Amino acid sequence: TGRVQLTFEPAGRTFRVPPGVSVFDAASWNGIAIDSTCGGHGTCRKCLVRVSSGSAPVTRHDRRTFSEDQIADGWRLACLVRATHDLGLEVPPLVTRPKASTVGVGRQVILRPGVQKRYVELTDPTLADQRTDLQRLRDAVDDLTLNPDLHALRRLPTVLRQSDFKVTAVTVDEVLIDVEPGDTTGSRHAIAYDLGTTTVVATLLDLETGTPVAVASMLNKQQPFGGDVITRISATMMDPDALGRLTQLARQTLSELAQEVLDEGGISPQSVYEVALAGNATMTALLLGIDPEPLGVAPFIQVSADWPVLHASDLGIDVHPGARATIFPALGAYVGGDIVAGMLASGLDRDKRVRLFIDVGTNCEIALSDGERIVTTAAPAGPAFEGGAIRCGMRAADGAIEVITLNAGASGDDEAVTLGVIGDAEPRGICGSGLVDAVAELVRVGLLDESGRLISDEAAAASVPALAGRLATVGDGERVFILHRPTPDAPTVECVYLSQRDVRELQFAKAAISTGWTLLLEELGVSPRDVQQVLLAGSFGSYLSPSSAVRIGLVPKLPVLRIVSAGNVAGEGAKMVLLSARERAGADAMLAEVAYIELSDRPDFNDRFIDQLAFPV
Ligand code: FES
Repeated sequence: TGRVQLTFEPAGRTFRVPPGVSVFDAASWNGIAIDSTCGGHGTCRKCLVRVSSGSAPVTRHDRRTFSEDQIADGWRLACLVRATHDLGLEVPPLVTRPKASTVGVGRQVILRPGVQKRYVELTDPTLADQRTDLQRLRDAVDDLTLNPDLHALRRLPTVLRQSDFKVTAVTVDEVLIDVEPGDTTGSRHAIAYDLGTTTVVATLLDLETGTPVAVASMLNKQQPFGGDVITRISATMMDPDALGRLTQLARQTLSELAQEVLDEGGISPQSVYEVALAGNATMTALLLGIDPEPLGVAPFIQVSADWPVLHASDLGIDVHPGARATIFPALGAYVGGDIVAGMLASGLDRDKRVRLFIDVGTNCEIALSDGERIVTTAAPAGPAFEGGAIRCGMRAADGAIEVITLNAGASGDDEAVTLGVIGDAEPRGICGSGLVDAVAELVRVGLLDESGRLISDEAAAASVPALAGRLATVGDGERVFILHRPTPDAPTVECVYLSQRDVRELQFAKAAISTGWTLLLEELGVSPRDVQQVLLAGSFGSYLSPSSAVRIGLVPKLPVLRIVSAGNVAGEGAKMVLLSARERAGADAMLAEVAYIELSDRPDFNDRFIDQLAFPV
């Protein structure tokens, strides 16, 4: 797709960017600080840069800023230089020093929030100076565009006169949303949300410093309508009132979380001027009161790829009345705004390396970048990772076994199995990462064969005597491996165990996922061993043990150092767009670049799926 290459000096760093991006944006996306107070709008004339190789057209703003000699020497305003071909650029040291913040997977983001404030002292109107109140303000704030909203206009005459014409203008993306008495420039906040199907997380950000003030999370209040997106979509299809209820519950979740972070941070709701939210396509539709049915049935169509201008109040969030809301756009019904946010936060579009991004969950989203192109797909992994359809499965809560190590050389049964349990509690069940660990360990010690069958008692007694006593049967004769016995002589049904059927469930899930990435690798003509980094993302994927993920074939067979936990990248993406208006443009640019591949469309999907069921040897 013909990206162009920009080299920045003295940093000595080179980036490949989509053609047409401004040099200023490209620098900002990659954490190179270029001076600016207008945020790249061509009005502050501070973003000086010297084009040292390649050429850039001269604009009238350049002529007003530089001498003839300087222009001949290559000096330009960085926000007006479009990267249409490879360029070498020299960036002078900063005069007004912007602060940068690290978010996502080591992404340096230069602080340039959409929310801006300017304190001004205006001269009083007179019979000789009859400019409007707004014009008076605009003339004083010359580095920001002020398109007023109605709330701001209602406040303007009163606030100006009550505060002796000393006011702070508050803007979000060129919209004047308020005027505040006196100097309030030190106080700017925003809230980033990760709206998950299961868990919702809110982060209160101080936009002055780019740092989080408070973080809170809670279960999505839509839980009573079912644990996954399909059951919630079904609810709206069966009951005409369900959509309204689900919308209300989502709004309540967001509003209670806002209250919680504001209380914890001791911050007034009035100083929150923007919110950003990343969620999957269904969660976003339900929040906005949009019928999700077309998302849940073939051919899986979403209502729109982008959203109208929204206010926090449209989402039921009680902050500043003019506060804006940014919702991440989705690529498709099954690659939602949460994944777009995740790709942004992990810099998938800013890196030359071959990187594979896997958000492991009931619906598993996979993206592959070869440094030039990004392809993505969604694999139906089923509920195994959430503890669903697993006999002793549970969510990652206190009492869940999350880490398992088997010791085939142990002398006694006590030492044969080592468990890591969440909350150091008595084990009650097994969560997704524990499930992957258990199966990986059973494969490693040879108790599970390549096809996923638990070997016979006799074979176990002969090959791994230390662990053979853990094999048992339950119910209709299903074979199980006991992970934890509450008491030495407890019956098997009271134990925490892994059953033969559980292993099958995990095999189906991992086969769906590995079929997904295998097809993406083929699409870009990349061999699995050329993958330089695998990012395991999401509330589940981030906790997976890399070596276990390799062992069961959930990820390509690579050195474990190349497999990294990416954390809650959806929430990080939401933070990024609040800290930097440029990053928001980056999310939109990425949508245009990413190609979506529908797995269920492929005639060879089933054959490949079957090929992927076995465990790699
Ligand atoms: Fe202000 Fe370029 S960034 S003029």
